[in-house]
Amino acid sequence: MAKPFVKWAGGKGKLLPVLVNNLPDDFVTHEEVTYIEPFVGGGAMLFHMLSQYDNIVRVVINDINPALINCYRMIRNHCDGLLGELSQLQTSFYELETHDERKQWYYTRRDEYNRIPVHERNNLRSAALFIFFNKTCFNGLYRENSMGNFNVPFGRYVHPTICNEQVLLDVHEALRNVEIMHGDYNDIVRVVDWNEYNFFYFDPPYRPLLGASNFRLIR
Ligand SMILES: C[S@@+](CC[C@H](N)C(=O)[O-])C[C@H]1O[C@@H](n2cnc3c(N)ncnc32)[C@H](O)[C@@H]1O
Repeated sequence: MAKPFVKWAGGKGKLLPVLVNNLPDDFVTHEEVTYIEPFVGGGAMLFHMLSQYDNIVRVVINDINPALINCYRMIRNHCDGLLGELSQLQTSFYELETHDERKQWYYTRRDEYNRIPVHERNNLRSAALFIFFNKTCFNGLYRENSMGNFNVPFGRYVHPTICNEQVLLDVHEALRNVEIMHGDYNDIVRVVDWNEYNFFYFDPPYRPLLGASNFRLIR
């Protein structure tokens, strides 16, 4: 069974039992369901639904984060290449013995990523670096500044699994026929066939408690 390949802010892994309990009573009686997730994030609900319901015949996912969507596309289309890149990153990282050496190496990779123009981060290397950061940065956060520079500091994980081959292969298999879109959730209406039984799972970002509240991350 596939499960999220990244730790994601607002991930719903732990809430799955509650979500599943609230599915429409007649969900399983529909023979052909289109499953649509406009704010997919790490995809906890997506992977659960794909593994449990074989009446789902069409799947559309979307997110506004282009770096995350690039990962979904690379896992679906070029999983072997991604595994190669990621296992090299893992090997190089593990070869470094001290926290300081690893920290330094992390920032060198972060600089490498930030030198790639934002509109060119649609390739294997960018996806591998994105997953590497997710496993090694502070709390698995993904945050960019206004210039598009990823700015999350190094984390404190002692021996993070950077290349989880089985998870990535399971996700690759699960995404085989999934339509992966990038953009604002509003745009998803373009691909919806309103004659079908469409099931939407919406999990939008949370409104900040204070108007301008935000993280301040300092290297
Ligand atoms: C609460 S998270 C979803 C978490 C997901 N359910 C999971 O289990 O990981 C909200 C997601 O909405 C995305 N998002 C924010 N604004 C958006 C927009 N206008 N259109 C589409 N996606 C958006 C964010 O990038 C984030 O991945």
